[in-house]
Amino acid sequence: MDSSEFRKHAHQMVDWMADYMDNVDNYPVKSQVHPKKIYDQIEKGIPQKGESIDLIFKDFQKKIIPGITHWQNPNFFAYFNANASPPSILAEMLTATLGIQGMKWETSPASTELEERMMEWLGDAMGIPKTWTGVIQDTASTATLASILTAREQKTNYQINEKGFGESTKFRIYCSDQTHSSIEKGAKIAGFGKDNVIKIPTDDQLALRADLLLQQIKQDIKNGLEPLCIVVAIGTTGTMAMDPLKEIAQIAEEYKIWLHVDAAYAGSALILPEYQPLIKGIEKADSFVFNPHKWLFTNFDCSTYFVKDKNALVNTFAILPEYLKTKTDGLVNNHCDWGIPLGRRFRSLKLWFVMRYYGLEGLQNMIRYHIDLAKWLENEIHKAANFELVVPRSMNLVCFRFKPKGNNDLEKLNIINEQLLHQLNATGSLFLTHTKVDSVYTLRMVIGQTNVEKEHVEKAWELIQKTANEMTY
Ligand SMILES: Cc1ncc(COP(=O)(O)O)c(C=O)c1O
Repeated sequence: MDSSEFRKHAHQMVDWMADYMDNVDNYPVKSQVHPKKIYDQIEKGIPQKGESIDLIFKDFQKKIIPGITHWQNPNFFAYFNANASPPSILAEMLTATLGIQGMKWETSPASTELEERMMEWLGDAMGIPKTWTGVIQDTASTATLASILTAREQKTNYQINEKGFGESTKFRIYCSDQTHSSIEKGAKIAGFGKDNVIKIPTDDQLALRADLLLQQIKQDIKNGLEPLCIVVAIGTTGTMAMDPLKEIAQIAEEYKIWLHVDAAYAGSALILPEYQPLIKGIEKADSFVFNPHKWLFTNFDCSTYFVKDKNALVNTFAILPEYLKTKTDGLVNNHCDWGIPLGRRFRSLKLWFVMRYYGLEGLQNMIRYHIDLAKWLENEIHKAANFELVVPRSMNLVCFRFKPKGNNDLEKLNIINEQLLHQLNATGSLFLTHTKVDSVYTLRMVIGQTNVEKEHVEKAWELIQKTANEMTY
């Protein structure tokens, strides 16, 4: 493809992209296709001869778009958002065009150095200690795995990396019974075994009980086990519960246990000074992760990982085969040594575009607005006779259920709410997901899409009430 043909198609696609952004709320939020629908439409093998972009692009619109769940639709209230934004998309276009691979400083110095500066910008804005260092990972799952591996290596003087586990101590990892599945996955991959991930019970706000954590640690030590790592959640996935970091940090310090903070979603709100008290005690932690690709308007993937001791991280992951040696080794940061993959995308570019375009104030205003919308909904649910909050609103997440008057049967209510969720999502007008809080089937509404406005939340709430009240059960 020569550059004039490329230019023609690129313009065509940019037009399509701008139209898509204008019309994204006209698409059904959740893809309505049945399993195999897309697969069966795709030809069985690689075409023998090349095809035109016109034809491929037509097929993209006809065959692929129906199988897309539109995460950028402002009526997307499911899971946690994975937000895009215009400045981020523009940066991704440039990233794709440059096509660099930023594993080492020399493979593109701008990638490494912009990343260093972006981590400083974010760390300062969020109240991460100035002596810490940040690096971008693909996802929070990877960052947490990196943290657990670093804890393991630091504790064993980097010997498991050298010799494997052998007869080594039985390490324990602690988190609450509400923490994200990535902790257990990380512990399994790191070789600790699922049985050594100890899920500490939570209080009535679903936050980890520090008193029970302490009890468990003491018991484990008595039994000859070795407490290795505690993972604190600032914003659990189900209900956005906040573990008491300050109290837990004290325990970690006293028992010399590695402390990792998972703020994958809620971390974005730490750019608001009023939420920074949530990470009081962070200076006693060892690592911290949050995802700008969730609530900071930066396209997936972009997870930012901050560590107290960058040497521990690098000592865990650095490997230097002959073919990767460069003349600046030792003088610069080579981010391939700061995590699991060797190859690295140029992710800092989109962060730079986003933070410069909106500015700190702009980003703060957007996040505050989302939280205000969630407060509005919380208030509406309080007023509604047939609905109840299952747990208090946390930031921009509202957890609620339909509870027709006089109906107190847990099982029945669970079935009704599950049916309500499926009916709502089948309309294509909004997308919600659920969790269970102590066996209570709970609808989650996350109000954090880049373009969500009051009218979307009002319309969603109207539809939820109407659908619920018209249901037969
Ligand atoms: C609290 C928490 N931690 C970790 C993750 C995993 O994030 P990622 O998809 O970036 O691995 C999530 C995902 O929603 C989460 O909510």
